[in-house]
Amino acid sequence: MSVHASLPPVLKAFDLTGRRALITGGSRGLGLEMARALGQAGAQLLIAGSQQLSVDEALSTLHAEGIEAEGLQADLSQPAQAEALGAAVLAQGRPVDILINNVGGRRINTPTEELSLEQWQAILDLNLTQAFVLTRTLGAAMLARRWGRIINISSIHAQWPGRSMRGRSYETAKAALSMFTKAVAADWAPQGVTVNAIEPGPFLTDANRRWIAQKPGFEEQVAAEIPMGRWGRPQEIGPLALYLASEAGAFMTGSCLRLDGGRLLW
Ligand SMILES: NC(=O)c1ccc[n+]([C@@H]2O[C@H](COP(=O)([O-])OP(=O)(O)OC[C@H]3O[C@@H](n4cnc5c(N)ncnc54)[C@H](OP(=O)(O)O)[C@@H]3O)[C@@H](O)[C@H]2O)c1
Repeated sequence: MSVHASLPPVLKAFDLTGRRALITGGSRGLGLEMARALGQAGAQLLIAGSQQLSVDEALSTLHAEGIEAEGLQADLSQPAQAEALGAAVLAQGRPVDILINNVGGRRINTPTEELSLEQWQAILDLNLTQAFVLTRTLGAAMLARRWGRIINISSIHAQWPGRSMRGRSYETAKAALSMFTKAVAADWAPQGVTVNAIEPGPFLTDANRRWIAQKPGFEEQVAAEIPMGRWGRPQEIGPLALYLASEAGAFMTGSCLRLDGGRLLW
């Protein structure tokens, strides 16, 4: 019997017992926090990262918290590895009910006038192409079962170029990811598969700590531009991902939800 059996009906709608979730980039940052939230709600987890070491560390952490999780290694900046990951997950023969396409990032701060074609393509592959590949592969299996949840981790930069950073392939890729979310949601809504996006504002993850270390005053400057006056805490994305992944979010599809402490209000 589920440990959640005694919950009131509204909380039971968040119960993921019996569901299996793949979270790409689930070994650190926002991905790990979303994995933790789904795992606490009873989901069996598959987390994928580019480095076996960080995947293993995340698995140890999750197992110590009593969460069921397996790991996979793949460099999802390479579309061929995204194809191989999707095929490997299907070959396991156990359904993936929930897919969180979380891998992404900016990685470069190069002005457009200096950006090479290779740099442009690399950021599109990292933020967009692999999400398409996994959505196609694992989404097709969800359609056959007539139940599925896909959550794409986009960015407030899907809607807004920002001022302090360059490397506009990131904004472009995230905008395309948000539109891909809406278009696929429309196609798959009649077949029981929801597709939504979360558009985070600035969160204090490893990726941003690297920028903070390189740019004196950046941490304070960004906080001052957010109406709430602070960066997001990675664990603050977990409950929203759980809502979208569960029966609680059954009527929501094609939505791109901003989670930014009010950043785009100013
Ligand atoms: N943090 C923010 O403020 C913010 C704001 C808006 C949007 N986002 C978006 O949120 C997502 C997560 O960001 P984050 O800040 O949590 O990132 P992060 O701290 O850098 O974590 C990245 C995760 O992705 C994995 N990963 C990175 N490159 C990979 C690759 N090529 N192949 C497979 N796995 C890879 C990492 O695993 P390994 O350690 O094994 O590489 C790690 O688990 C991204 O899509 C980002 O664009 C973040």
